[in-house]
Amino acid sequence: MRVDGTPTRTVWWADGVVKMIDQPLLPHRFAIVDMATYADTARAIRDMTVRGAGAIGATGALGMAQAAVAAAPGTFHADVAAAANHLRGTRPTAQNLFAGIDCVLKAIEAEGDNVDRARHAAVAAANAFADDDAESCRRIGEIGAPIVASRPRVSTHCNAGWLAFVDWGSALSPIYAAHRGGTDVFVFVDETRPRQQGSQLTAWELGQEGVRHAIIADNATGHYLKAGDIDMVIVGSDRIAANGDVANKIGTYTSALAAKAAGVPFYVAAPTTTIAMHTPTGHDIPIEERSEDEVLYVWGWSDDGRFIRVRTAPAASGARNPAFDVTPASLITGILTERGLVPASVEGIASVARK
Ligand code: MRU
Repeated sequence: MRVDGTPTRTVWWADGVVKMIDQPLLPHRFAIVDMATYADTARAIRDMTVRGAGAIGATGALGMAQAAVAAAPGTFHADVAAAANHLRGTRPTAQNLFAGIDCVLKAIEAEGDNVDRARHAAVAAANAFADDDAESCRRIGEIGAPIVASRPRVSTHCNAGWLAFVDWGSALSPIYAAHRGGTDVFVFVDETRPRQQGSQLTAWELGQEGVRHAIIADNATGHYLKAGDIDMVIVGSDRIAANGDVANKIGTYTSALAAKAAGVPFYVAAPTTTIAMHTPTGHDIPIEERSEDEVLYVWGWSDDGRFIRVRTAPAASGARNPAFDVTPASLITGILTERGLVPASVEGIASVARK
């Protein structure tokens, strides 16, 4: 990923500190923040300083490495287990978070009671998990680029770009690869209420990469699909169930329904760390319900440079705010992973899932 032309990553390890892009400041400011302890790192996941399934997976892994480095020798395994529980409790839906935590726990457990070795193993495993995320996403781009090249007017929802992973992104990776290969791609960017990952993050990323795009209100997607202005839809995922049902940012299901009605292919792109074989169907995916304030207020930068929130709803109204929805496998044309494009079905998912 390039920010003002300089290669960077979303989250990384630096001598025990977890560094990350401060995402709520985008697109108006670009800043890196430091998380000194695993508790700070957990807070950054919970409050969405870092957001996006892959990014929070890598952050969870790096938080586990911080916990291992800080754990007292006498209570090492208990401290590490407590940290794992703490990190697991930050957000419930994205499978990548649990994959990142488990990957580091496994590396620690393999070292038995040798605390020094376990600490080194934890740091190595966390960095390897982050590198694996970046490489999987690069490969998704390579595999998906020909699809985008043949269907260059693309719709996407939420942010499944490099900010949502360690690098490259899932749904946006094929777009970047096709664009770099010379395809004139045009992206319809759903605004993605209420946290506006589309207008704030995806649009900013696409601008950094020089990809042509337009932000549209979420409720305009059906209109453009029906009008024949969109050749394909591609979105990311926070969790893929064993039967091919997919959880993604709220509003994805509506977009999939509209794509089906318009006869437009609907793709999901995700690294295989997003697959949860222990989650049989979409009904079993826990859906995060976030604060009603995210719906009742809007946040933004005032002309005099202050980050402020403004209430748009009546003072007496409440709100409901599910952060994700489930798109059934029947609406999905194919699932694009680093191991290939597979059907959204029990067989398709089993053929690429990690053992
Ligand atoms: O709630 P967020 O901002 O963490 O959600 C971002 C996501 O993970 C999206 O649902 C995305 O489309 C999935 S692919 C990273």
